[in-house]
Amino acid sequence: MERENFGNRFGVLVAMAGSAIGLGNLWRFPYLVGSYGGAAFIFVYIFCVFLLCLPILFSEVIIGRRSHANAYGAFKKLAPGTKWKWLGVASVITPIIVVSYYSVIGGWSLEYFFKSCMFEFTEGATQAELGSMFDKFITSVWPPLVGHTIFLLLTGLVIIAGVKSGIEKFGKIMMPMLFVLIIVMAVRSITLPGAMDGLVYLFKPDFSKIDGEVCSAALGQAFFSLSLGVGTMLTYGSYIKKDENIAASSSYTAVSDFIFALIASCAILPAVFAFGLNPQEGPGLVFQTLPFIFSNMPMGGFIAIIFFLALIVAAITSSISLYEVGVAYLVEERHVSRKKASVIVFAVAWLIGALCSLSFGPLSDIKIFGQTIFNFFDKLSANFLMTIGGFLMVVFVGWKMSKSDVFDEFTNSGTLSANKRIFKFVYFMIRYVCPIAVLMIFLSGLLF
Ligand code: TRP
Repeated sequence: MERENFGNRFGVLVAMAGSAIGLGNLWRFPYLVGSYGGAAFIFVYIFCVFLLCLPILFSEVIIGRRSHANAYGAFKKLAPGTKWKWLGVASVITPIIVVSYYSVIGGWSLEYFFKSCMFEFTEGATQAELGSMFDKFITSVWPPLVGHTIFLLLTGLVIIAGVKSGIEKFGKIMMPMLFVLIIVMAVRSITLPGAMDGLVYLFKPDFSKIDGEVCSAALGQAFFSLSLGVGTMLTYGSYIKKDENIAASSSYTAVSDFIFALIASCAILPAVFAFGLNPQEGPGLVFQTLPFIFSNMPMGGFIAIIFFLALIVAAITSSISLYEVGVAYLVEERHVSRKKASVIVFAVAWLIGALCSLSFGPLSDIKIFGQTIFNFFDKLSANFLMTIGGFLMVVFVGWKMSKSDVFDEFTNSGTLSANKRIFKFVYFMIRYVCPIAVLMIFLSGLLF
């Protein structure tokens, strides 16, 4: 069977940026910025994204396009009969774990979108009221499970439609809309009286705040936000045609992902400061602090709808990239139809996700290594599998693949002169700097 490809350059960009831009940008990044000292964190984050993670993104896309295969098949094809096969196995399993718990948060976004359409964040509601609304919701059994199910179903439907008429088409409509939505909200937020303090916090760095913990959090976030280390960018890379410039597409992806994270922070943190609230709220920032702001600011009801719609859109374009990894594997290695593969991935992800969802309520007493089920999967993938996966992928490109193959992919057999010029530097980063830096920050992260 013919393998599908993305149709054109814009299609590649929206798919890759769609994967990158997600809950990581709207939910995780702003609360990390809030918790780790504002501009100083952003400063470290810039280094992590453009110096360390971009070469890793190149590497993943190179493996994908070189092999034109799914995440498992890629290693079988490029390094037949070696232990690299296990990296392929991990690259298929991890995204299924990630999409399971990702979909739980996606379900929360659906519920909150629904709440905002019903104007449930009533004027003058107190923080305590909205906080307990959230607690009641996530600890209950059915509402979060329903959200999780609908979210995963929507993701599956886009996947069944295929690479070009599903993933690519969906991205072409959704990604531009997403930017418009978040810009509208950012404008509202920075024009609130008192928003200035938030902007200062975001853009005036206090370098004394930088320490090992900040670096490790920033690198972890960069990995998560660029969808690295788990085979999603590899799989998307395998749908890129031979004449596309993968270095350019990857760089645009990193730039748009970063810009989006900044705009998202401008949409959230200035409002938090304007209301004199604590930016160090952590994961509850989006679902507890923001609804309070929405219920108390002019046009808040309308902005709430915009924000939660943006959250859903961003989350779905990311979850399809995670979902696609398993589907591509099943179709190509197990020879099942795309539809059947989508159903299988749905079933597995639904089950793990359901356990994660229930671990906020009825199953909260079940602990794996001292963590609830949700936290266990979240930590396992973000702190271990992604970083180790990313580390092994750069090592694979830097040390296992031949230099001439890497050169061919990066420069389209020497025809892209700008890429030729930077190749030496990029190759040096891939071979030495990225693996060592990732390993060091990974190990230092273990010490905290
Ligand atoms: N990058 C997405 C976000 O920021 C999430 C995501 C998609 C992801 N694919 C991934 C995270 C692969 C880690 C690995 O929300």
